[in-house]
Amino acid sequence: MINRICCIFFSPTGNTKKLALAAAEHVAKIESLPVDEIDFTRMENRLKSYEFGPEDFVILAAPTYAGKLPNKILPDFKEKLRGDKTPAAAIVTFGNRSFDNSLAEMVQVLKEDGFCPLAGAAFVCQHAFTKVLAGGRPGEKDLKEVRDFALKCFNLAKDTKFLAKGDGLQVVGDADAPYYVPKGTDGQPAKFLKAKPLTDRSKCTNCGLCAELCPMDSINPQDIEDVHGICIKCQACVKGCPEGAKYFDDKAFLSHVVMLEQNFTDKKENRFFYIM
Ligand SMILES: Cc1cc2nc3c(=O)[nH]c(=O)nc-3n(C[C@H](O)[C@H](O)[C@H](O)COP(=O)(O)O)c2cc1C
Ligand code: SF4
Ligand code: SF4
Repeated sequence: MINRICCIFFSPTGNTKKLALAAAEHVAKIESLPVDEIDFTRMENRLKSYEFGPEDFVILAAPTYAGKLPNKILPDFKEKLRGDKTPAAAIVTFGNRSFDNSLAEMVQVLKEDGFCPLAGAAFVCQHAFTKVLAGGRPGEKDLKEVRDFALKCFNLAKDTKFLAKGDGLQVVGDADAPYYVPKGTDGQPAKFLKAKPLTDRSKCTNCGLCAELCPMDSINPQDIEDVHGICIKCQACVKGCPEGAKYFDDKAFLSHVVMLEQNFTDKKENRFFYIM
């Protein structure tokens, strides 16, 4: 008998969190269960380990980065979460280009971590790089779809015959495929691995919020212009700065954004997969 919903998400610009919590809270309300929220966006939460039992229902949610799960967070998903035949729902979000192999990778990670993934979904969300791609999503329709998805998955979890074949969930994609190579407007690989955000000092009030929001703890709170650690280009600092003072000026990065805007504006649908 399931007695707890656990909602785990990594969500630098908030789309994934919105969907994951909508899913968890809907099931929790209908089933009168408590929700435990584990925000993997925060470094301090990724330093701890978490164990789940057969009486938990886990919702794991993360964005697609370069066609897979964010590579700097993947080790934490693999090492910090341990299930014990724990029923789970996998949710990935993507910015209207493609989720490529991220859902397949998440399902594989869940299986290897001891969970029984019973359903997986990929949700279109506003691209962290530009609102030209899926601007305003997730909207009401997406939120309704994620609630329905979560409830359907929870009902599968009540049926022990599905739990018994918990490794049987099939989704599209290849967990072992390489990362998507971002292209520029010239069709060539856009190399912006080393790009870091800059700060417009004329706008910055030194509030320190960007340093708090950075999931990699890479912005020095004593000097927010100093990005001393790894930058995963998540845009948490750019989107989260109340003054609009953070920006990227890297040419390859900006060229990739224009390429996305030129080629990936056609409206995509959310995708759903259930164990059979
Ligand atoms: C570094 C990076 C890489 C991304 N790669 C992809 C991608 O390969 N395909 C895609 O459709 N969207 C991609 N996106 C868009 C995100 O998946 C999308 O904006 C997601 O909803 C962000 O989640 P969040 O709001 O929870 O941070 C990428 C975003 C970032 C920041
Ligand atoms: S969030 Fe914006 S205003 Fe605040 S310190 Fe960072 S750059 Fe400056
Ligand atoms: S510095 Fe890089 S990793 Fe940190 S919040 Fe900004 S974009 Fe994300």
